[in-house]
Amino acid sequence: MRSFLKTKTAIVLALSVTAGTASADGHGGVEVLHWWTSGGEAAALNVLKEDLEGQGIGWTDMPVAGGGGEQAMTVLRARVTAGNAPTAVQGLGFDIIDWAEQGALANLNDVAAAENWDAVIPAALQRFAKVNGEWVSAPVNVHSTNWVWANKSVLDANGIAVPETWDDFVAAMSTLKAAGITPIAHGGQAWQEATVFDGVAMSVLGPDGYKAAFIDLDESVLGGDGMKEAFDRMALIRENVDDNFSGRDWNLATSMVINGEAGFQMMGDWAKGEFLNAGKVPGEDFLCFRFPGTSEQVTFNADQFMMFDQGGAVSDQQAALATAILSPSFQSAFNVVKGSVPARTDVSDEAFDACGKKGMADLAAAASSGNLFGSMAHGHANPASVKNAIYDVVTAHFNGEYDSATAVEELVDAVSIAQ
Ligand code: BGC
Repeated sequence: MRSFLKTKTAIVLALSVTAGTASADGHGGVEVLHWWTSGGEAAALNVLKEDLEGQGIGWTDMPVAGGGGEQAMTVLRARVTAGNAPTAVQGLGFDIIDWAEQGALANLNDVAAAENWDAVIPAALQRFAKVNGEWVSAPVNVHSTNWVWANKSVLDANGIAVPETWDDFVAAMSTLKAAGITPIAHGGQAWQEATVFDGVAMSVLGPDGYKAAFIDLDESVLGGDGMKEAFDRMALIRENVDDNFSGRDWNLATSMVINGEAGFQMMGDWAKGEFLNAGKVPGEDFLCFRFPGTSEQVTFNADQFMMFDQGGAVSDQQAALATAILSPSFQSAFNVVKGSVPARTDVSDEAFDACGKKGMADLAAAASSGNLFGSMAHGHANPASVKNAIYDVVTAHFNGEYDSATAVEELVDAVSIAQ
């Protein structure tokens, strides 16, 4: 009921904001629907706004708070149903394919050809940006979910080295707990639990198992012993979060690591944007490392801007936005602030900090060694119906509704019903 009310409020707000901004859009600008509302995200978005404003293109902002974008997608559905789609919409993975297949997106092939997107955008992203031979969205970045963020002075003060194995991580959590520090900063929202599960499942199942479970939806792996072990590890993590985790936004969890209240956060590299926005320096104030046991793998998600068909061909403003997004200088400037890495393979890592350089190197290595996988938690492993079914089980188990053996059975059932 609570989430229904929240959704309803969001829709009403969205419709009323739109009514008030119709003229801004009508004057040749773009209306952009997105969920980048935290401090770090807003700072990154500003790079894009300023770029467009520099070209004389007006920007009507349509932010819908809610990490992972679920609420934004609800608002989007209401807007499209009302015949009033925004110009450009932040989207992830299978959601983009879904909108394209419904015929809702404008064709960007001319922009893509002029800017040579086929050659510079990696295949893993083209899979979600180009549907049936038509470019339908402009990739902004590549994020990945199997990261851990740590407060360096908290680790140093407690004699904790960067954990390399699950056992090291368990030992580090115990040490912090004994010292009265919250081991894991976590926000109890389904998408955040799923984000943690991406790394935990990859570490237990390995790359073949992760692919079999979440991409191929193989029942023997979804229902196997490895999956039960992954749930057992989630239960242990649950024991190492604070009492107030329920409903907390991800960026508030990041703040707990920033200010030394907690040791670690398992979160995608958008968390780095929060550290940078707070003036923190990687290697000095905070550490970034892959979830123990996943140092070679990358579970990625890429933010893209889908250009909604406004009736007829792609508009000049949409084309200008798409061109700006893929320009090498924007790709560097934006991703340095956002915490992600460029969506083009030919952008230098020079301007990036140590975590960004590592992110770029990890991505290239994972792509060439066959260790790059779409993130289950962020819509790059399967369509929303399956993703949501997995969310439900992971979050119910995390909240103690059932044990790991039951979670495994529930997972098999939920995924089979959702397909
Ligand atoms: C998006 C990120 C965003 C994060 C938290 C992810 O799904 O890809 O760009 O920062 O959600 O809102």
